[in-house]
Order: sequence, then C-alpha cells, then structure tokens
Amino acid sequence: DSTVQEDIEKVLYSQADIQATVARLGKELTTDYQGKNPLFICILKGAIVFMTDLIRQVDDFVEIDFMDVSSYGNATVSSGEVKILKDLDTSVQGRDVVIVEDIVDTGATLNYLIKLLSTRQAKTIKIVALMDKAAGRKLPVKADYVGFDVPNEFVVGYGLDYAEKYRNLPYIGVLAPRVYEQ
Ligand code: PRP
Ligand code: MN
Ligand code: MG
Repeated sequence: DSTVQEDIEKVLYSQADIQATVARLGKELTTDYQGKNPLFICILKGAIVFMTDLIRQVDDFVEIDFMDVSSYGNATVSSGEVKILKDLDTSVQGRDVVIVEDIVDTGATLNYLIKLLSTRQAKTIKIVALMDKAAGRKLPVKADYVGFDVPNEFVVGYGLDYAEKYRNLPYIGVLAPRVYEQ
C-alpha cells in the first residue's frame, strides 16, 4: 500500500503557483465583469476548489451556482458522453454567465454546457478554466480565461481526481502511472 504523496510522480503546480495564477484570473474577471453581477457556475466536482479560491479574488458583486456533470466516470480517458447529475438552481436567462472549470480536455463537457446554456438564453457565456490540456481536444472548444496550459499527462489534486481520490491535494501533480495501470 502506498501513501497519497507516494502516488504523485511529480508536482506540476505548487500551492504558490496556483495562488498567483488564481489571483491573476480574479483580477481579469473583476475588470471584465465590472457592474455586471455575473453568475459563476461551478462544474462539480472537479472545479470546487478552484471556484472557492477564484470567487474570493473577484472584487465586485458575483452570484454563484453549481452544476454536476460527469464524463469520465472512473476512467483516465473521457467517455465523451456527458450526463447531468445535478442541475442549476438559478435561471441563466439574460445573465452574464461564467463557467468555472478545473480542466478542459476533450471539450465534451464544455461543448455540452455551452449549447445547453445558450438554449436557456444566457446573455453571455464565458469559460474560465484553471487548466487547458490542448493535446486532448476532440471538439473545438476554447476557454476565454486560462490559468495553465498543461502537458498531456494525467493530473490530479486541487479538485481533480482519479477514481474520486486526490481531490484534496493542495497542489496539482502527475499521477504515477502504476496507480492506474494496476
Ligand atoms: C473532468 C473535469 C472536467 C472534464 C474535462 O470532470 O473536471 O469537468 O472532465 O474533460 P472533457 O473536456 O473531456 O469533458 P469529470 O467528468 O471527471 O467529473 P468530476 O469533475 O466530478 O471529476
Ligand atoms: Mn469536472
Ligand atoms: Mg473526474
């Protein structure tokens, strides 16, 4: 049996790296959404840690809501099939919506969400993603605000899981391949 730390091959982004990047994104959003009372939508579960840090870096009025969609299940590759597990409580009609994601990989999750929120007549829809894994893209989705451009490796921590584990790590690391190969 290994410990949590032993399952991490290397640290990609430290707590300090993440803090600086989240502060930078918060500043950009504060400027761009001045007086708009945007609705920040956290995509559960992966974006939860990023969301809680990000909104505290936005120096203006914001509202929040949560949506749970899942595409990975317990695998390291996306199934491509997106399911709503929990819907929003708030109407997005006429709202300036900011979708908060931890990572964009194939683009399946965001492609689905953008269509759905457009149908529901959001006024504007923008995406803030802590990480962008461009090498994983299968659908032409682009985040408007990106924290880190990540290499094509399986990353965990700061909300991101493998089989529901490692979400609580305060940093982002690469999972040791032996963890998912066994
Ligand atoms: C992960 C991640 C993103 C999505 C990105 O969520 O948090 O939401 O996959 O992948 P995609 O671009 O290929 O759609 P997941 O479905 O694993 O659910 P979780 O957030 O609850 O872990
Ligand atoms: Mn997710
Ligand atoms: Mg996941």
